[in-house]
Amino acid sequence: MSFDDHRVVITAAGRDFGRTLAIRLADLGAEVFLSARTLAAAERTRDEIRERGHPRVHAFACDLTDPASIRDFAAEVGRRTDRIDVLVNNGSRYLEGPDLLSAADADIVDTLASGATGTVLTVKSFLPLLLASDKPDVVTMISACGTAGHHRSDAHDAFYAAKSAQAGFAEILSRRLRPQGVRVISLYPPDFDNPDPLSAEWDTTPRGAQDALTSQSLVDCILFAVAQPRDCFIKAFHFEQV
Ligand SMILES: NC(=O)c1ccc[n+]([C@@H]2O[C@H](COP(=O)([O-])OP(=O)(O)OC[C@H]3O[C@@H](n4cnc5c(N)ncnc54)[C@H](OP(=O)(O)O)[C@@H]3O)[C@@H](O)[C@H]2O)c1
Repeated sequence: MSFDDHRVVITAAGRDFGRTLAIRLADLGAEVFLSARTLAAAERTRDEIRERGHPRVHAFACDLTDPASIRDFAAEVGRRTDRIDVLVNNGSRYLEGPDLLSAADADIVDTLASGATGTVLTVKSFLPLLLASDKPDVVTMISACGTAGHHRSDAHDAFYAAKSAQAGFAEILSRRLRPQGVRVISLYPPDFDNPDPLSAEWDTTPRGAQDALTSQSLVDCILFAVAQPRDCFIKAFHFEQV
């Protein structure tokens, strides 16, 4: 399917899944407004996309722990477009370590600020542009760690807390924005493989029943959900872990 008529914002698209999604959406025709913590990282992904022959891609700096940076990002996007159709909350710092005492206070603050506060403020800042669309979607990359009772990750407790905050936010937002026509779509993946979409591995990664979830499948889930008619409001994707 073509996403020619979609204007998409993706946070943290300088590397890994955000970059993957930006490249795939641009390949399918979407106009992409991508951010990374540094402008240089965002511009690297933008240039990779341009080299594939897609000129409708824009790069911005956005530090999700900094409210002013999020506001500036939304304002700059707003100077280039009068609407956004899809906001992808992809950015969120990972923190390793199943021992609460193992992380420094600053790392805990940063983990919660980027994932939890950053997601709330990003949606707040982009909501006016989303409400100007006739097909607005908010997509959030949460994690199995944001599912009640989950305990199989070695992520730090602060990461569990950040992902649980995203889940709670998405839950209430989903109900409150529905009357305004905004779908709030959340993904709760366990650890997944994220091959470079520009490498041969993208087409050869095993995707069998015994294999780990792949970013290819996660991209497919997002494209599927966004492409549905508006009566089909897919609220959440959960995945059985291997
Ligand atoms: N990978 C998995 O197995 C997995 C599983 C479940 C859920 N998820 C979720 O899926 C999303 C993407 O995963 P991923 O594997 O691509 O993540 P990742 O490799 O851990 O990368 C995290 C991304 O977030 C960015 N980030 C961190 N702090 C930031 C800040 N303060 N401001 C702006 N950006 C910031 C990083 O930018 P820098 O390059 O500047 O550090 C990076 O682009 C994340 O929300 C993650 O929690 C991932």
